[in-house]
Amino acid sequence: MDRDAELRVIRAAYAKQVLAAASVRDDRLEEAFAVIRREDFLGPGPWPILRWLRDYVPSPTADPIYLYTDDLVGILPERRINNGQPSLHAHLIHRASPAIGDHVVHVGTGTGYFTAILAHLAGAAGRVTGIEYNRELAARAKAHLASFANVDVVEGDGTLAPFDDADVIYVNAGCTRPAESWLDRLADGGRLILPMTSGQGFGGTPPEGMARAGAVFLIERRGSDYFAKWISPVAIFPCEGGRDEPSERALADAFAKGEWQQVTRLYRNEDVPEQRCWLRGSGWCLAYS
Ligand SMILES: C[S@@+](CC[C@H](N)C(=O)[O-])C[C@H]1O[C@@H](n2cnc3c(N)ncnc32)[C@H](O)[C@@H]1O
Repeated sequence: MDRDAELRVIRAAYAKQVLAAASVRDDRLEEAFAVIRREDFLGPGPWPILRWLRDYVPSPTADPIYLYTDDLVGILPERRINNGQPSLHAHLIHRASPAIGDHVVHVGTGTGYFTAILAHLAGAAGRVTGIEYNRELAARAKAHLASFANVDVVEGDGTLAPFDDADVIYVNAGCTRPAESWLDRLADGGRLILPMTSGQGFGGTPPEGMARAGAVFLIERRGSDYFAKWISPVAIFPCEGGRDEPSERALADAFAKGEWQQVTRLYRNEDVPEQRCWLRGSGWCLAYS
C-alpha cells in the first residue's frame, strides 16, 4: 500500500474514533474528519502535542500518523494556543449541524483545520467566513485554505468584524458575554455555539492568557426568540473583545450557583425578573424560562 493510501485508512479510523469519543453518529461529519488532512494545517513536524493538558511533547517524528489521535496540538505553543481536541469539536460541530449551502462564520479560525471541516460540511453551495485575531495565525490559515473556493479568511476581531447573516456561528474562544453582532447576524433558524468561560469556572484561576474553564451553550434563533441550551463543559483560550470585568464577575457568580443545565432562553432585554435569570448582562440575559 502506498503512503497516501495508508494515511487515508488511518484518517478513516481516526474519524470513527473521534466521533465515537464524542458519542456522535453523523455520517457527513465522519466523512469530513476522514477527508481533511490535519497535517496540511499544522505546519512541518515534529509537532508539539499537549500531554496531560499541561506539557507539550514533540511527536517522535514528522510522520502525520501522530496527528491522528484525539490530542490538542500547539499552533502557537508559546502562547498556549492549540489546535483543539478533535472529539470536542466533533461534538460541537454536530450540534451546530452545518448543512450544505449554509453560511458558517468561524470565530477563532487558528490555522484553519476545523474551518476546513466546516467548509466540507457547507459544501460548494455554501461558504465559510473564518475570522482570526492573531496576525500570524490568520496568515497561516489564509495560506492553508487558499485552495478552498468556499472559504474566506479575515484577520480581525470576530466580535467586531462585519459579516453577512450566518446559519452557523462557531465561536472557538472563551467569552463572558455574546457579541451583539453574533445575535444580530444569526439567521432565522441559525445556530450559535458560544463558549462562556470564567477564571472561576471550574478549577482555580488560570494565569493571564491561559485557557479558562466553563460551559458551551447552543443558541438557536427562531424569529426574534433565542433558545439556549448547555451542551458541553470546555477549557479554552480567551476571546479578545468577548470579555470584560463586570461580566467576568457575573459569570463567576453564575457558575458558583450551578444550574447552567437549566438555562433554556437568551433574552435581549432587561425585563426578565431576577428569579428567572441564570446570568444577567447589560441588555441581555441567559434565563431558565
Ligand atoms: C483555542 S484557539 C482555537 C484555534 C482553532 N479553532 C483550532 O482549534 O485550531 C482560539 C483562537 O481564537 C482566536 N481568537 C481569540 N479571540 C478572537 C476574536 N475576538 N476574534 C477572532 N479570533 C479570536 C485566538 O487567536 C486563537 O487562535
